[in-house]
Amino acid sequence: MSRADGPWTPRFGLAARVISSRWFRRYFGGDLPERDIRWGGVRAGMDVYELGAGAGLYTLPLARSLGEKGRLAAGEYWPSGAALLGARVKKAGLDNVVVHVGDGNALPARSGSLDAVCCFYSIEEIPGCENVALQLGEALRPGGLMILFLWRPLCRRAKRNSLLATLRKAGFREAAVWKSIQNYRIVLEKPDEDHSSSQ
Ligand SMILES: C[S@@+](CC[C@H](N)C(=O)[O-])C[C@H]1O[C@@H](n2cnc3c(N)ncnc32)[C@H](O)[C@@H]1O
Repeated sequence: MSRADGPWTPRFGLAARVISSRWFRRYFGGDLPERDIRWGGVRAGMDVYELGAGAGLYTLPLARSLGEKGRLAAGEYWPSGAALLGARVKKAGLDNVVVHVGDGNALPARSGSLDAVCCFYSIEEIPGCENVALQLGEALRPGGLMILFLWRPLCRRAKRNSLLATLRKAGFREAAVWKSIQNYRIVLEKPDEDHSSSQ
């Protein structure tokens, strides 16, 4: 399988559409994008990065919630997945979204520039997700939000604890937690001052 397609073959593309469909996710995952985005603290006018956007279940409502003054950079690792997402964004007529193809380790954002980063069931797929989380944190402004939705079957307690301990050590504090059988959702706030100087 080539990097150009990754798992997004035509057959998988169909599966991805099903997995990203609202009814499927609502009934099997308990996901309601507009509600979840509000709960995470995303507001109009924010500058946001979404890691692992997939086929865009969250991307489109996220972009709408940001309004015309907000900006969204949506990152997806697989080019064919990003192409599908780009087509959806275009069809929806959203011009505050830029879709980036590439690794979550290579952020298209300046240090300290973002209001929020969103990882909807994506960061746990990346080996060494603690380092990715630290890089995402670096891109946030002080007081910015890291919104993590973790899928428990892929992000068991030990992995979750390691990820959250890394972020706490970097000074992030929990702003909200929402647990369900399948999902563990947490919002962490970046410290206002340089945490390292107070260590
Ligand atoms: C379970 S899917 C979730 C997709 C979407 N956020 C949703 O909730 O429907 C995880 C996504 O993360 C992407 N992904 C995996 N590793 C990545 C990486 N290193 N950088 C960016 N995206 C990645 C996958 O290609 C996939 O689209």
